[in-house]
Amino acid sequence: MNTENTFIVLEGVEGSGKSTQSQILSQRLSSEGISNLLIREPGSTKIGEEIRALILGGHELNPLTELFLFSAARSELIQNEIIPALDTNTVVVCDRYIYSSTAYQGYAKGLNLDTIAEVNSIATSRISPDLVFLLDINPEISFERKKAAPKDRFEKEPITFHNNVRKGYLCLAESNQNAWHIIDAEKPSAIISEIIWQKVITLLS
Ligand code: TYD
Repeated sequence: MNTENTFIVLEGVEGSGKSTQSQILSQRLSSEGISNLLIREPGSTKIGEEIRALILGGHELNPLTELFLFSAARSELIQNEIIPALDTNTVVVCDRYIYSSTAYQGYAKGLNLDTIAEVNSIATSRISPDLVFLLDINPEISFERKKAAPKDRFEKEPITFHNNVRKGYLCLAESNQNAWHIIDAEKPSAIISEIIWQKVITLLS
């Protein structure tokens, strides 16, 4: 098993099931004795969680401010968690990464995509994942799943916003076919986790 520098990202619209699948993947890696780190964006560091509370709270922020705040949280995560884990052969499983900024602040909020790419590459020291799983689903369906839960600032956006997020992800997947895998997130959870596991195990072996 070669776990050297293995970085896996899950992306998707709200309610696509990526947090559940990230947890299942991390548990499966652990049960196979593979050291791994499960993290989420924004967050998973002390400062990152504070930034998360600030962004998801009630404040209206312009997209550029949002981009910088997400990127500040991301930089903390890269320096304090991701680089040290990769350096010690710990597989990193990350629930959202730079592609969320491209999809949300870019495709959905209209911020210039080149600006986002530049800020992303500075914040991450150009560290990019080996695998990206896009849990693709029509937001009208994924929102049905979450309808009882309280909504944060992003979840309150209209459906057209979430359709644009989805379109952004699909464009990213289209232009990065080596690393990206699109998974139909309407499939049962057990099928999705098996698809993910097969790709991960192929990468590691
Ligand atoms: P979260 O509760 O983690 O959403 P989810 O459970 O669906 O992952 O909230 C994170 C929100 O922040 C989510 O709506 C997506 C948004 N976001 C961005 O707009 N840009 C970013 O760069 C990141 C990382 C998240």
